[in-house]
Amino acid sequence: MTSPALFTPFTLRSVTFRNRLWVAPMCQYSVEKRDGVPTDWHLVHLGGTARGGAGLVMAEATGVTPEGRISAWDTGIWNDEQRDAWSRIVAFIHGQGAAAGIQLAHAGRKGSTHRGLEGHGAIATHDGGWEPLGPSTLPFPGLATPAPMSHAQIAQAVAAFRSAARRALDAGFDVLEVHAAHGYLLHEFLSPLSNDRSDEYGGSLENRARFLLEVVREVRDVAGADVPVFVRLSATDWKEPEGWTLEDTVAVSAWARDAGADLVDVSSGGNVADAPIPVGPGYQVPFAAEVRERVGVPTSAVGLVTEPHLAEHIVASGQADAVMAGREFLRDPHFALRAAHELGAGVDYWPFQYERGTFAHRPA
Ligand code: FNR
Repeated sequence: MTSPALFTPFTLRSVTFRNRLWVAPMCQYSVEKRDGVPTDWHLVHLGGTARGGAGLVMAEATGVTPEGRISAWDTGIWNDEQRDAWSRIVAFIHGQGAAAGIQLAHAGRKGSTHRGLEGHGAIATHDGGWEPLGPSTLPFPGLATPAPMSHAQIAQAVAAFRSAARRALDAGFDVLEVHAAHGYLLHEFLSPLSNDRSDEYGGSLENRARFLLEVVREVRDVAGADVPVFVRLSATDWKEPEGWTLEDTVAVSAWARDAGADLVDVSSGGNVADAPIPVGPGYQVPFAAEVRERVGVPTSAVGLVTEPHLAEHIVASGQADAVMAGREFLRDPHFALRAAHELGAGVDYWPFQYERGTFAHRPA
């Protein structure tokens, strides 16, 4: 029997992923001390999916600076205490045979908000929030008006991504992902709907992509020859032609690859509040396929892929090199082992502690 494509190992640089079903980055808003230090929640949440057979476990959008967080309950990677707490989590993930990734993030104008379970909207500076930064003064609906970044602030943010990448490597992460999707800072610079600057960081596509490419080059430089760098992009603002478009994504994916990105993690949306998004199973997969085909760069597909056979089809048909799943891993941290079973992949990483869970019809 041929092995399912989803459970064929995949190598980027010196990292071999045991399969191509990966955990998408998901904010947990679980840093109760608001110091950016990941907690036991993160250990169990991420560790559970590693135990559950995922090939890559991508940690949530993690602030490269305090004001780069979405909320004060987000994880960070701007100091050594955070690095050390991450290293314990990474060690557990490795012990389960999975690769560990971290999404390096700056929330930009979507920063300083409440965490989801306590409602949405901005937190004012006097309540422990901060003044968000952005390309321009254009706010995300319902959130604070951002302060347009000076050239010095852009240079500081690029340097913050670089030091965050350094600390992430020191913590043991195998993959570094630059978050340039979902309406956060780097996407805000990319999209004309959030960037109306008239300097070299605004206007033409080249100018709007400048900040992202500076970040990718720095992260690549720190990552060296062995560590894969991913870039997560929103393929479209779902407001074409005036917003960010799939054509822009294809162009910038090629530039990001030339700047050192190894894989484009293709998502969509998040930069405007009222975009009509035709959500359905695998609805973003065609974007990943187009980037892969036209740019010749590896891609991962994400978004409502909950069925093992759909994930298998995406990889087997060459639409993406890997599939990320988010909510299905929340419903079932063992989604990858379940998918292997359903697809008839004979994987050897069922945890020995749980082996008797496979004895369905005999005495335990
Ligand atoms: C997310 N998503 C997300 N995306 C991202 O790039 N960084 C992040 O930190 C988060 N945080 C987050 C938290 C939670 C609770 C959810 C459900 C989602 C989006 C996520 O990575 C993924 O792209 C979407 O959830 C779509 O995939 P699924 O859930 O349909 O498989």
